[in-house]
Amino acid sequence: MQGLETKNLKRKKTPFYFYDIDLLRKTLSAAQAEAAKYGFIVHYALKANANERILSEVHSYGFGADCVSGNEVLTAVASGFNPSSVVLAGVGKSDDEIRIALEKDIFCFNCESLQELQVINEIALSMGKTARVALRINPNVDAHTHHYITTGINISKFGIAEGDLAEVMAEIKKLPAVTFVGLHFHVGSQITDLNVFSKLCKAINHIQATYFSGNGFTPQFINVGGGLGVDYEDPFSNPIPPFAQYFDIFHRSLEVRPGQAVHFELGRSLVANSGALISKVLYTKKSSDRNFLILDAGMTELIRPALYQAHHQIQNVSRTMSASDQKYDVVGPICESSDCFGTDIPLPLSQRGDLVAIHSAGAYGEVMSSQYNLRTKVKSYYSDTMGEKIPSTPLVTEQ
Ligand code: LLP
Repeated sequence: MQGLETKNLKRKKTPFYFYDIDLLRKTLSAAQAEAAKYGFIVHYALKANANERILSEVHSYGFGADCVSGNEVLTAVASGFNPSSVVLAGVGKSDDEIRIALEKDIFCFNCESLQELQVINEIALSMGKTARVALRINPNVDAHTHHYITTGINISKFGIAEGDLAEVMAEIKKLPAVTFVGLHFHVGSQITDLNVFSKLCKAINHIQATYFSGNGFTPQFINVGGGLGVDYEDPFSNPIPPFAQYFDIFHRSLEVRPGQAVHFELGRSLVANSGALISKVLYTKKSSDRNFLILDAGMTELIRPALYQAHHQIQNVSRTMSASDQKYDVVGPICESSDCFGTDIPLPLSQRGDLVAIHSAGAYGEVMSSQYNLRTKVKSYYSDTMGEKIPSTPLVTEQ
């Protein structure tokens, strides 16, 4: 299997992102079909990947948009998402961002504190507008994921604590330019233990029954956030996340009132496995006890391993595995020891110039890339326009 080596991509300057549009479409279509079974509404979390081409694909499947900045709101709208399908979250929305969202007349703000509600009210009043708001509640449910992407436990900066709800609701009644429309939750990302979502449903049921019954606060919808994880260990066998089980949990466990809608904010699960970071081996280097494969991509192009100790499958697409396999520490060129994609990775005996794919990089990859060390911004290519595909199964060992 020569993979990329024999075709067009070989001629492209590395590193670059490569998106498998066919897999992306299959993933989007599976998610949309499973959600539609129950009438669930899914907003795509732009923070996972705001690449123009990816956004146009996502939009074409009928998803709404979940934004966390004014620029994301503007980008979503410019990409064709109807403002009435756009939500704006974020623990620190600036006055400008609030203004942008009000100007665009988005579906709703997910509000995270009493003070934020007061500021939104003031700005809306000054603009002669009314803001629809959902309260983001911190349900104290542990997502059992990396602590950097755990967002719904008591020590998290996100959401309104259950103990503060009564005060917040009393205050909302006094805010003329704010209309309460729903409840919002998001407990974390890369959640692979689906029991977490059952626990989230239980917590939501408790909150709804305790604080939102017979007091004039009728949530028109419950937004349960995102967080569904992908299989980074074996994306080849499981390229599409378990959307059927995921939505079924909410269908079975969430107590939905008549007329109440259920919204989701999925990011990673929709795009992660469709993207790979393609890089070239610059150098191979041996130290007394390590074999280094030094790539031309680094933490500037994909920061997840450095920041979250994340695992991504690494593949030398120029060669087949053989008896002379080596274990490599696969590292980037950046002057930081954390610039390492993986240690002791079994790979074919590799040489300068080999192409290396780092898989499942479609979410929180390109969008988190930086120009640290004044690196050039990474480019992207697409399987349909290039007429190529990344090998979808790991290369087998040559006998
Ligand atoms: N809604 C809210 C309020 C969020 O904060 C997030 C993600 C999402 C939805 C989408 O979550 P997803 O379905 O993608 O799990 N950079 C990290 C992930 C950060 C997630 C931040 N919030 C990573 O590379 O793992």
